[in-house]
Amino acid sequence: MTIGEGEGWGKLILGGEHAVVYGHPAVALAVDLGTRVVVDTAGPQGVHSPFRDDRLDEALQRLLPSPDWALTITSDVPVGRGMGSSAALSVAIVRAVCRAEGRPDPGPDATFNKAMEAERVFHGNPSGLDVAVAVRGGAIVYRRTEEGPRFQGLPCPTWPLVVYDSGYAGNTRDLVAGVAARRPEVDPILSRLGERAQAMIPVLDDPAALGPLFTACHEDLRQIGVSTPELDALVALALRSGAYGAKLAGAGGGGVVIAVGPDPEAMVAEAARQGVNAFVTWPRSAP
Ligand code: MEV
Repeated sequence: MTIGEGEGWGKLILGGEHAVVYGHPAVALAVDLGTRVVVDTAGPQGVHSPFRDDRLDEALQRLLPSPDWALTITSDVPVGRGMGSSAALSVAIVRAVCRAEGRPDPGPDATFNKAMEAERVFHGNPSGLDVAVAVRGGAIVYRRTEEGPRFQGLPCPTWPLVVYDSGYAGNTRDLVAGVAARRPEVDPILSRLGERAQAMIPVLDDPAALGPLFTACHEDLRQIGVSTPELDALVALALRSGAYGAKLAGAGGGGVVIAVGPDPEAMVAEAARQGVNAFVTWPRSAP
């Protein structure tokens, strides 16, 4: 019997979602929520998983060397909320398989490439941003180029984010396809989203400066058609509760809104009074 364990981190996108699919920069960070996978090469065959996703079997076929292996998944990354649950899972499986086979860590690029095989099953045409964060941890600026993905570590912020859960999932594949169908009309907005992500880099340690960029991004995301009335209401709630700024994070169409503010606990308490599920999460620095 050989057992291998692996882990991948959940993520939040601070700026540049959707724009990143078309080569613009995006800034994202790993959070203190993650997925752990244990594989047992001796079986008995079976998957113990909190994930209920029709595409899981096909994704596993891409990553598991043998269908006879047993796989146990545990995760505290909310599923279908734009927090990178499928990328965290894919990366965790790649690492667990590698360790079970007794191979040395193949490094971030090879881990990224392998995990992307499964991420494509989940999302069709992913930019690779979610997988890059799940592999690396910490904060990154990410760009998809003709030559392949380019990602660079940024100083990891030391302030918390407030996450507001809309309570329902967006479908990343459909949302990305919807934006594609609205091009070229939305191209100037996609460029602007990339510029706003770039503008976040020098103020990453300053939530008060970052907040207005969040809110401006949300307006852009609304204009490209990926927000919902519920997400707009969560942004308004965050701003009323004293946030410096707030935005949907991830593909949209549901999922979560993120906010930064001077008193995160007060924002969470106000959300609870309004019947909204909100929580505080912290960036997870790269190991
Ligand atoms: C999804 O987390 C982020 C999107 O930009 C899609 C992608 O980057 O693949 C919407």
